[in-house]
Amino acid sequence: MRVFVTGASGWIGSAVVPELIGAGHHVTGLARSDASAAALAAAGAQVHRGTLDDLDGLRSAAAASDGVIHLAFKHDIAFSGDFQGAADADRRAVETFGEALAGSDRPFLIASGTLGVAPGRLATEQDGHGTGSDTAGWGSGPETRRATAELTLSFASRGVRSSVVRLPPTNHGDGDNGFMATLVAIARDKGVSGYLGDGSNRWPAVHRLDSAHLFRLALEQAPAGSTLHAVADEGVPIRAVAEVIGRHLDIGVVSIAAEDAAGHFTWLAGFIGADSPASSTLTRELLGWHPTQPGLLDDLDKGHYFHTPSA
Ligand SMILES: NC(=O)c1ccc[n+]([C@@H]2O[C@H](COP(=O)([O-])OP(=O)(O)OC[C@H]3O[C@@H](n4cnc5c(N)ncnc54)[C@H](OP(=O)(O)O)[C@@H]3O)[C@@H](O)[C@H]2O)c1
Repeated sequence: MRVFVTGASGWIGSAVVPELIGAGHHVTGLARSDASAAALAAAGAQVHRGTLDDLDGLRSAAAASDGVIHLAFKHDIAFSGDFQGAADADRRAVETFGEALAGSDRPFLIASGTLGVAPGRLATEQDGHGTGSDTAGWGSGPETRRATAELTLSFASRGVRSSVVRLPPTNHGDGDNGFMATLVAIARDKGVSGYLGDGSNRWPAVHRLDSAHLFRLALEQAPAGSTLHAVADEGVPIRAVAEVIGRHLDIGVVSIAAEDAAGHFTWLAGFIGADSPASSTLTRELLGWHPTQPGLLDDLDKGHYFHTPSA
């Protein structure tokens, strides 16, 4: 299959590209910079130069493909105060892909998140993308992203084999620069490894290589209108995460009071207390996906999150 991948140079995308190529697919990746283009070429992908805002370019690349995996997201502006702007750009890109692929029966996959889908209970693939979700403190941007997920699923009725892959908040692995790396950096900076309250709140997790494998299976097999969960660990208590970090950094493990969360956890404060476990039973049954990589605590214990000159 000729697959157009946006965000192909990102954390998830750079695992998806070799997964696809290794299975015999031909990949064209969107690249907005020379560095991203070089990384894609080195991985064996064709390069489509452009940005998420270049809708004509996205349209023509999608039309020339047998399927699209959309992983690009403007995290740079999203996490510096303009989540809404990032979500709006994402929405426009998804609308463009929907128009380009309508009536083709070709696959179209987007990434979404499990965090906040069903606070306090085990979220399943049958939980919708809209109401009941909770991402406190992030304005209406997350709401827009959830609406974009619903829009994506609606393309199924327009002749697109569309699916939404909900990713847990941590897609861990060597080289991770996301939530886990941030928690380690905060612990190092503060001299204590913190959790909120009693730390019993749970996060689901997956290794990014297992996520990448699921994206390939979904591209190849997922029925139109599928919601899939790339979840390996259903719910890891944040206190257990803090304990591994504390052990590796040789620092204390402490409860942080809610009123001190913003000062301690900085931009992670809005997420760290979430109790948001998620299941992938239906995804495993549907696609025969079986995570094979280490779970979150074992991966943390491998030590690569702690390998810095100051460690
Ligand atoms: N990582 C996780 O744990 C996680 C969890 C839940 C959901 N997700 C979602 O999964 C998707 C992939 O996440 P990720 O962790 O791989 O993100 P990432 O590492 O931040 O990568 C983002 C990708 O988007 C590209 N991009 C950003 N702005 C762009 C623009 N204006 N035009 C074109 N390309 C642009 C980046 O290109 P450059 O390489 O040029 O910067 C990069 O390839 C996102 O939708 C994310 O929100 C991720």
